[in-house]
Amino acid sequence: MASTSSPQSGSAPENRASDAILAVRDLYRHFGGIKAANGVTLEVGRREIAGLIGPNGSGKSTLFSLVAGTVKPDSGQISFDGHEIAGMNAHRIARLGLARTFQIPAMFDNMTVTENLLAAAAQGHWHGAKERAAETLALLKLEPVAENRASDLSGGQQKLLEFGRVVMRQASLILLDEVTAGVHPNIRKIILEAIARLRERGISFLIIEHDMEMVRNVCDRIIVMDAGRVVTSGAFEDIVRNSEVMQTYLGRPQ
Ligand SMILES: Nc1ncnc2c1ncn2[C@@H]1O[C@H](COP(=O)(O)OP(=O)(O)OP(=O)(O)O)[C@@H](O)[C@H]1O
Ligand SMILES: [Mg+2]
Repeated sequence: MASTSSPQSGSAPENRASDAILAVRDLYRHFGGIKAANGVTLEVGRREIAGLIGPNGSGKSTLFSLVAGTVKPDSGQISFDGHEIAGMNAHRIARLGLARTFQIPAMFDNMTVTENLLAAAAQGHWHGAKERAAETLALLKLEPVAENRASDLSGGQQKLLEFGRVVMRQASLILLDEVTAGVHPNIRKIILEAIARLRERGISFLIIEHDMEMVRNVCDRIIVMDAGRVVTSGAFEDIVRNSEVMQTYLGRPQ
């Protein structure tokens, strides 16, 4: 895969969005001998829905943690909405309007769905939280289980709640880490529609996704990572037509 990991490709012009809400430059982070971020460069435009794909272990979730501030970079720059946030405390980054979901949902098991949504608002903007919780329940079709405990939800409903908790933060950029992995097609549809509705309200998305159908349906642009760096980006059709990229992505155990 020498050509797909060439030094130039990570900063190719197509990685640049004209009006970027997020710009990551030459980001590095190692864990012992593992180069989880090995010079990541990418941009996400305002109101863009960008898809992030790549084989297992290519550094997608690590990139989210670096951007969200839960993991500190060794070096590199991250510009979010005009602020330089590389190395900044995760709470400050969240307050600037950046929110993420986790690959494994993080919620309060003993609290109800509504309480979980309100708790997410309490970590950020409390103003109007009750109204927003009602809106979020409707957006994600969680009204029938609003008073159920989070621990009693199905796996798919927990993914919806995880998404709902992010929506409650009133972020301008949302990072979604495999929110549709393993969920029922009905729940996937709810998530897809919610993403589209939220984008209409001006929210930008960076979405890690293994499901290529979902990527094709929802994403404006695809960014491909391998071995800790961006190897290419572009329209879904162009990426799929590039057999070398598809081999990088599909040619390994998922
Ligand atoms: N906290 C950590 N400590 C040690 N190694 C880590 C840590 N976080 C990630 N890694 C390693 O960094 C590499 C990238 O992992 P990461 O989870 O970012 O990949 P990914 O692209 O999200 O994979 P997947 O598709 O399986 O979710 C892997 O080799 C992983 O084992
Ligand atoms: Mg991951």
